[in-house]
Amino acid sequence: MHVVIEDVGFSYRNRHVFSGLQAIFHENEVTALVGPSGSGKSSLLAAIAGFTEPTQGAIWLVANDDRLRPRPAAVSWIAQGAIVLNARTSLDNVLLGPLSEGKTHEEAVELGMRALDDVGLSERAGSLCSTLSGGERQRVAVARSLASSRPLILADEPSAGLDEANTRGLSHLFTTLRRTATVIIATHDPVMIDAADDVINLRSSTR
Ligand SMILES: Nc1ncnc2c1ncn2[C@@H]1O[C@H](COP(=O)(O)OP(=O)(O)OP(=O)(O)O)[C@@H](O)[C@H]1O
Ligand SMILES: [Mg+2]
Repeated sequence: MHVVIEDVGFSYRNRHVFSGLQAIFHENEVTALVGPSGSGKSSLLAAIAGFTEPTQGAIWLVANDDRLRPRPAAVSWIAQGAIVLNARTSLDNVLLGPLSEGKTHEEAVELGMRALDDVGLSERAGSLCSTLSGGERQRVAVARSLASSRPLILADEPSAGLDEANTRGLSHLFTTLRRTATVIIATHDPVMIDAADDVINLRSSTR
């Protein structure tokens, strides 16, 4: 599934954020969405996720011959600061992905363990998230996306607060996520931007 942005704009009350954005986010690619603070990255991500609507233009999720409106059910969201349940284990947190899509517990555990292995945390499957580092928690959040089969993975500043080594590890994991999805990352981080397949700059591509 790829994402088509057709002449999209945002404004809040009298506040003009951007307008006239034309862009395509491709399947099996990681695209970095960049632009200065306040340029509208989070606003665009929320609209691609179907949480809100742009004030102007249209956003389409295109798969084969279908053209669908954005819908949260298509999206796996990786939040800034790794939103995980600290009182539950890494595996429990990862299971939320596949279980929320109707997989059986057994299937979810198999997918979850494979995903934890992919992010290098299989030995911490039974650890409470409260005992993990910030970087490890962010990897649990990525594993949850890996174990789910949503076609769109959206991340809003996922490396905020991580050191450079963890950021490098995270940017490598995003290239694993693109195997089965369209990955869009709003970021200011040069390491994440460097590892992306494509870069869309809100400031230079809009009016
Ligand atoms: N709900 C809202 N009501 C009014 N103004 C808003 C609202 N949400 C965002 N804005 C404004 O819209 C502009 C774009 O905000 P947005 O959060 O999309 O920017 P951003 O590119 O993600 O910035 P940052 O890099 O700081 O996260 C900002 O000027 C912000 O103040
Ligand atoms: Mg933002």
